[in-house]
Amino acid sequence: MSEQRVVLITGAGSGIGRASALRFAREGWRVVAIGRRREKVEETAAAIAADAQARAAGGGCQTAALDVAEAGAMAALADSVVEARGRLDALVANAGIAYARHAALETSDEDWDETLRINLTGVHRSCTAVLPHMVAAGAGAIVTIASIAGQVGMAQRGSYGTSKAGVIGYTRNLAVDYAPHGVRANAGRPGFIVTAIHRHPLPAPGEPGPAEPGAQPPPGLGEPEDAAAAIWFLCSDDSRWITGVDLSVDGGYTAW
Ligand SMILES: NC(=O)c1ccc[n+]([C@@H]2O[C@H](COP(=O)([O-])OP(=O)(O)OC[C@H]3O[C@@H](n4cnc5c(N)ncnc54)[C@H](O)[C@@H]3O)[C@@H](O)[C@H]2O)c1
Repeated sequence: MSEQRVVLITGAGSGIGRASALRFAREGWRVVAIGRRREKVEETAAAIAADAQARAAGGGCQTAALDVAEAGAMAALADSVVEARGRLDALVANAGIAYARHAALETSDEDWDETLRINLTGVHRSCTAVLPHMVAAGAGAIVTIASIAGQVGMAQRGSYGTSKAGVIGYTRNLAVDYAPHGVRANAGRPGFIVTAIHRHPLPAPGEPGPAEPGAQPPPGLGEPEDAAAAIWFLCSDDSRWITGVDLSVDGGYTAW
């Protein structure tokens, strides 16, 4: 078995997932960067290969193009990673979509089904792919990515907010069921972070100004690295006594 720790990160071709991939590589981990579009995860791998800090730490990256919600896809990948590397230390179940902004009455069946399929079923399939290996090893850390929209009511998040509330509940149940097996499960709950998931224009990082009218208190919008830092902490040994939490990474949005 290799000494190097291994993390699977879904949705690693952009935004929070890409920033997390770079963070783990800079900590010396082997990253499996997973996304739907091969060219985007290859870009992430190239960014890691070109990063002096990641190289100095011995971090590395391999890629996989798949749909996290497709039955069996994540399980086959997790099996192949364990066969090749002999270990699987962490999962960051980050892939998600926010295609539409609708209240319940305006939410189409297609939007509802696809949002729950990717944001909730995709998380479940990612977790059940890694769990057998973590249980066998008696150790592992899972971080799912929820949202402030899963904690507080927000305008026009009928399907999205529902999926993210589901992720929080799902993660708590994982924590309870798998703590006896040495596996921790926590949810990250980002607020407004400047990534491609937002279809409306956001202010530039660091600039004051709400993502939506009245939405974001000081210190303003977050950057993908802010979420990656929390994700890293929840996978690292520094959080070894933390499981079953959903950690706000929202610049105070839910505190106001
Ligand atoms: N940016 C924010 O303000 C914010 C706030 C709260 C929660 N989040 C959550 O953070 C996560 C990452 O989003 P982001 O902001 O980095 O946006 P993003 O759009 O840059 O990243 C999402 C990634 O997931 C990938 N993806 C989508 N469906 C997939 C599937 N079926 N299989 C594999 N990959 C898939 C996309 O290709 C993309 O690379 C999402 O779960 C999102 O809901 C983001």
